[in-house]
Amino acid sequence: MRAAGLDYESRALVERDLPEPRGAGAGEALLRVREVGICGTDRELATFSIGFPPEGESFLVLGHEALAQVVEAGPGVKALKPGDWVVPLVRRPCNPPCFSCARGRRDLCLTGKALERGIFGLHGYFAEYAVDSEADLVRVPEALLDTAVLIEPLSVVEKAVETALRIHEPGARTALVFGAGPIGLLAAMVLELRGLRAAIVSLEPPDHPRARLVAAAGIEYLNTPGERKADIVIEAAGAADAAMAGLRSLAPLGVLGVLGSPDARGEIPFRDMLVKNQTVFGSVNASPEAFQRALEDLPRMDAGVLKRMIHRASFGDFATTIPAAAGGAAKVVHVIE
Ligand code: BGC
Repeated sequence: MRAAGLDYESRALVERDLPEPRGAGAGEALLRVREVGICGTDRELATFSIGFPPEGESFLVLGHEALAQVVEAGPGVKALKPGDWVVPLVRRPCNPPCFSCARGRRDLCLTGKALERGIFGLHGYFAEYAVDSEADLVRVPEALLDTAVLIEPLSVVEKAVETALRIHEPGARTALVFGAGPIGLLAAMVLELRGLRAAIVSLEPPDHPRARLVAAAGIEYLNTPGERKADIVIEAAGAADAAMAGLRSLAPLGVLGVLGSPDARGEIPFRDMLVKNQTVFGSVNASPEAFQRALEDLPRMDAGVLKRMIHRASFGDFATTIPAAAGGAAKVVHVIE
């Protein structure tokens, strides 16, 4: 079968012909992958600055944002049958499981040894077939298929927004999201669903496709936060400057969630933070509950905006789409014909 991934010997992004999986074992489903979304993590992986292949191998199949169809359900599989559509969880618990992994919160893994499909030590889904345990798959209703490939990135957002709202004392009303890429836009849309008034701060000019998509979603778009303060601030720009600016944009009791920033150099205003009861937290990956919330929220979001967010490409385009800087409005999604 065709697979796209990283060759750790030649340090290149390549297509490989891999053997098809033998079938579904007990509790497993054999999947025909239909779509794979690309994000900043894939771009980082392709620079070989993060990630590693499965133990004893020198190739890693990329792809962690996937939509697939069950072709075979192994013995003991309860809720899935051939033809069902699924989105896989990315992370697999550490072994032996730490306290978090044992209680079903692999996204909060304590050892750092949890593996991630298509990222850390496990093959991803940029291939024609894959096998997963039923427990690692989220069933998707057919009505959501057009945009279901967004469920994984949306789950990451759901976890962060839930964390921010849980930490904030009751009464959060305003939000600022730094970054107008897919994660930023999804974050602002989820915050609005939760009843907050959200604005997105990003550097692109107002006529840039990303800014226009923000406007189409009915969300305010700013090039700079200015003196604006917000109760919830989400950094989704993947930029240290954005995280530092986010810190300065916190209202009293404000909560800043950092999703993508690399290490930042700058002053941390601890005094201000303590007298204003502010919080900064980091968030990665998503809980199974966050995937469920993504499933619930997706149909409540503006379908036109979600569709405009997706740009579909063919399998072979990966050589250009993965290394490319995330410039346009769109989430690139490869269709695995
Ligand atoms: C994925 C997460 C993953 C993280 C770190 C993100 O792109 O969406 O599921 O945990 O990368 O590897």
